[in-house]
Amino acid sequence: MIADKLRIEQLLKEFSSPLYVFREEDFIDNYHSFDNAMKSGYDKYQLSYSYKTNYAPYIASLVKKLGGYAEVVSDMEYYVAKKVGYKDKQIIYNGPIKGDLSIRMMLNGGLLNVDNLDELDRICKVAELSKDKQINIGLRVNVNIGQKFISRFGIDSDSEDLEKAIRKVDSHENLNIWGLHCHVGQSRTVESWRNRAEVVLDIVKRYFPDKKLKYIDLGSGMFARMDESLAKQFGDDIPSFEDYSNAIGSVFNEYYKNYSYEDKPIMFTEPGTTLINSYIDFYSTVSSIKHIKGKEFVVLDCSKHNLGEICTLKRMPLSVIHTGNPTEKLNDANFVGYTCLEHDVMYTGYNGDLAIGDYVVFGNVGGYSNVSKPPFISPNCAMISENGNIIKDKEEFEDILRTYR
Ligand SMILES: Cc1ncc(COP(=O)(O)O)c(C=O)c1O
Repeated sequence: MIADKLRIEQLLKEFSSPLYVFREEDFIDNYHSFDNAMKSGYDKYQLSYSYKTNYAPYIASLVKKLGGYAEVVSDMEYYVAKKVGYKDKQIIYNGPIKGDLSIRMMLNGGLLNVDNLDELDRICKVAELSKDKQINIGLRVNVNIGQKFISRFGIDSDSEDLEKAIRKVDSHENLNIWGLHCHVGQSRTVESWRNRAEVVLDIVKRYFPDKKLKYIDLGSGMFARMDESLAKQFGDDIPSFEDYSNAIGSVFNEYYKNYSYEDKPIMFTEPGTTLINSYIDFYSTVSSIKHIKGKEFVVLDCSKHNLGEICTLKRMPLSVIHTGNPTEKLNDANFVGYTCLEHDVMYTGYNGDLAIGDYVVFGNVGGYSNVSKPPFISPNCAMISENGNIIKDKEEFEDILRTYR
């Protein structure tokens, strides 16, 4: 986090509080560390950035410059990827309900991972109407890697659905399976990643023993690098990028040991939070300090919606910048927002000095923050890069009202 009072003051003066600040240089360093670690585990690796996490075109464009593909789950995200200049063949389109543009993308050589048999039926119809074209798709497989819930995504690999899907594809001469995709949420351990690699390669062995698949996409769900104060809340042992890449790389390298580089599949992963979370900070300002029936509340000029759901689950990395106003000592204070909701609480258990007008800087707000902010009560604030490039203008009332009649 930036802890330079003068710089924070300067930025807030220019762009007003509250404000998202993207630490671009650190993001780039982290991108390279992640990408290099993955390539050192398996040399035919390609990163594909998960747009849902933060689709700010500035960030999407930077990822493109750094060599990342785009992973999108809606026509809106696909539109962003095209707007920042991606070719269709560098876009992976996932998701349980895809928009019409997904078909255009698929026909132009984009990578579409089919989620279910009904979607596959619709794609078969497209194939029948486009006999002059070879259409290549991936199948998202629903796998069990030891998670304690039944995921709703993908085609069940433990029933005959997967076989049915393969038969459907095979019955069309111009439809080909190019790859497999899987993603399992809430499973961030290295063990679960090793399982993921093994389970997917079991499927390859069982269903595609002689086929040279072009790609295997393992989705995402790794721990990001993070501030120590946050890491502690996840337990002692946050794996490194190398831990993950060694685990999945060794499984892939063993399976493909007799394949040439050309013949083995590309391994994709789709990092979102892993890339962006730690590299956007959020600057806010103390508006009032209230003492109510023995409890202390610090009202900030923002809401939990600016920070994203994580602030309701964990205590965010936090730093306080004093601005010279007379401070008071607070004990177990809650930091609360402007929304008039009782549960708009961004931080609990603050102990320390604080004054009206002080700045409170939250770290780790890169993912599911600006993209999850509803237009509830107030429009969203601006996002800039640390060197002052505007990434997103502050929203005006008319931006919110434009679609209302
Ligand atoms: C299919 C898919 N890919 C990638 C991601 C991004 O995962 P993460 O933010 O853990 O990197 C998600 C997140 O839910 C996802 O559903």
